Amino acid sequence: MIHYDEAHHIFKLDTPNTSYVFGLTDESYPGQIYYGRKIEDTDLGYLLREDERPQPPSVLRREKAGYFDFYPMEYPTGGIGDARESCIGIRTMDGQEGLELRYGSHQIYAGKKPLEGLPATWDENQSCSTLEMVLEDEVTGLRVILSYTAFEDVDVITRSVRVENAGDRSIYLTKVLSACLHVEQEHLEVLTLPGSWSRERQIQRQKLGYGSIVTESIRGISSHQDHPFMALVTENCTQTTGDVYAMNFVYSGNFLAKAMRDQFDQIRMVMGIHPDRFCWKLEPGETFWAPEVVMVYSDEGLGKMTRTFHSLYRRHLIRGYWKDRRRPVLINNWEATYFDFDTEKLLAIAREAAERGIEMLVVDDGWFGHRSNDDSSLGDWQVNESKLPGGFAYLAQEVNKLGMKLGIWLEPEMVSEDSDLYRAHPDWVLRMNGREPGQARAQYVLDLSRPEVAEYVYGMIRDVLSSANIEYVKWDMNRLLSDVGSLTLPSDRQGEILHRYMLAVYGLQERLTKDFPQLLLENCCSGGGRFDPGMLYYSPQIWCSDDTDAIERLSIQEGTQLLYPLSCIGAHVSICPNHGTGRVTPFETRGAVALSGTFGYELDITRLSDEEKNQIPGQTAAYKKYSHLIRNGEYYRIASWRENHLYDCFMVVSEDRTEALCTYVQVLSQINYKSRRIRLQGLDPDAFYSVTGVTLAETSETEDAAAAESSENAAAAGCGNNAGPKRYQGAALMYAGILMPRVMGDFQARLLHIMKI
Ligand code: GLA
Repeated sequence: MIHYDEAHHIFKLDTPNTSYVFGLTDESYPGQIYYGRKIEDTDLGYLLREDERPQPPSVLRREKAGYFDFYPMEYPTGGIGDARESCIGIRTMDGQEGLELRYGSHQIYAGKKPLEGLPATWDENQSCSTLEMVLEDEVTGLRVILSYTAFEDVDVITRSVRVENAGDRSIYLTKVLSACLHVEQEHLEVLTLPGSWSRERQIQRQKLGYGSIVTESIRGISSHQDHPFMALVTENCTQTTGDVYAMNFVYSGNFLAKAMRDQFDQIRMVMGIHPDRFCWKLEPGETFWAPEVVMVYSDEGLGKMTRTFHSLYRRHLIRGYWKDRRRPVLINNWEATYFDFDTEKLLAIAREAAERGIEMLVVDDGWFGHRSNDDSSLGDWQVNESKLPGGFAYLAQEVNKLGMKLGIWLEPEMVSEDSDLYRAHPDWVLRMNGREPGQARAQYVLDLSRPEVAEYVYGMIRDVLSSANIEYVKWDMNRLLSDVGSLTLPSDRQGEILHRYMLAVYGLQERLTKDFPQLLLENCCSGGGRFDPGMLYYSPQIWCSDDTDAIERLSIQEGTQLLYPLSCIGAHVSICPNHGTGRVTPFETRGAVALSGTFGYELDITRLSDEEKNQIPGQTAAYKKYSHLIRNGEYYRIASWRENHLYDCFMVVSEDRTEALCTYVQVLSQINYKSRRIRLQGLDPDAFYSVTGVTLAETSETEDAAAAESSENAAAAGCGNNAGPKRYQGAALMYAGILMPRVMGDFQARLLHIMKI
């Protein structure tokens, strides 16, 4: 619901439990007033402090420049007084940079319009409402349209911006951020998700003192190192208590998120496309569209924030055939064979996999050109018939005969120096005049800002996919963007390349999903380097990390699950000792950890021990049985191994609270210690439940949580053993808890299935 209070010039956007309020001053400057728990009153203009005098009593009223440096401008501009981080920067043909935006007009309508060329949240029932407010600059004729959508079914407000050049001269946009939020609250911390390759999205909290905290990417991808997310949280904020003001950027390229505390203890947080290496020339009559920011406020800590993001992304971002469908259990040959495979080896894997409930074979890197290591053939997307005689047509036919689907890996944005494509078109890569572009993983980046290059890439993808019954694509992207120059764009448009590149990637994936509507697309970027809401709009799942070690995955998946639903997090069981860490974990634990994602295998099944092979049917059956919970369940984080260094625990609960699945991993074992009391969450306090241990190895559920353990441990668990299933009241499970049996050994996982009786 969006309401404009005409008498007081106040806009109020309501979601089921939150309100976002801003108003206009007498001089038509829009200023932010409030974001937080829902309030009915709209007469909140008094909070804009329009009449407050500046401290030194030498002047009677605030003068413009000083006022701007204090005022919580809804969309701050640079160059006319506000010295804090602004949202928009311009340069006129005279080389001048100031911009002053005043309210011009607005419209409120039901539903939400798409953003041109960009991923964005949507609402097919049009039950949300949108406010578009036009701000105008008298001098340049620039019009800035701020769009806000308030959702009816989730506590989310989305914001985006478009800039129209209604003047008669070209103008350079040097910065267009998408959202700005002001918060007046003391003792705030900033939560971000920094990381690295194979260590993506580690949760970090820092106290916000005077000055600023920044998280940003200028790598051309949203990146492993930083994540397009920032939240202001109160100092005492936990999973269940405290205030959270969060922003997540629906974009996959360079971004800037910055929180700052000013001289008056006002907090400003901004987010948008990174202004570094960005400069967009806007001709008269043209429009620039800036991507969307998702804003979430929670007054019940991080857990509620997480569940809000999950609901939004599940319902209003992910699209297409696979949106609500269970995804096939796949087996990927990357960690099984790397580049060393042929049809026989793949079919041997597929045969063993099919017998154990695995539903799709994915042929990873190395099937094309003459690629037998990282050094060649990207761009030459013809099947290497010496490895795969008869190409994918034959392989698909054989795999389909086993009752399985076939999927393939592609890295369409790249080209190897040793490739026919590069030899034919050395100018098709990002490069700057007179400089030899740098390679990373022995590859160059195709200059997708050139329409003819993007067109060629699409043709190549279409040809491969049309050659056989290929039902899944892993779209990889394995390097950062450097040498960002294009040989065809004019000099004053070189600053547009990175955003044009992103628009081209989105355009390609949009075409792909339209032309192959039932194709299951999984994005990937050296693991999770482009795991962001932008990519989620095109692919319902994203490979989370190249780190497949079950223990390392606990914290990587925890950071990812903080924002993204489990149904979209690519997670596989791999071989031990793990190829990345050398760690040996039980097969069952690897299964339990992968089960909180899309679930699959990435190992040579033909070389597993019988004991391990025998566990696979139980794991695949468990995935199929609990997939509805994993896909749709509400997520509750109970304990974090990252924080306690001993164990991890989280659960998913069905929306109607009749069923839940709890994952517990004892990371380190201790001698001489008690069983651990775990307080479940999200259940109906008045309902009664059974609690059963899920034994992945045997596809079965033991009668209760502790029955799979020794009688000593079962007793410690307080669950009884031979006395039949015990009934637990929801309130008891949540407030008093259950006891997790002490088990011998490190890296031990337990799954509990909780069912309303
Ligand atoms: C990236 C991906 C891996 C694998 C390799 C293949 O690193 O993240 O999963 O596909 O490329 O080269």
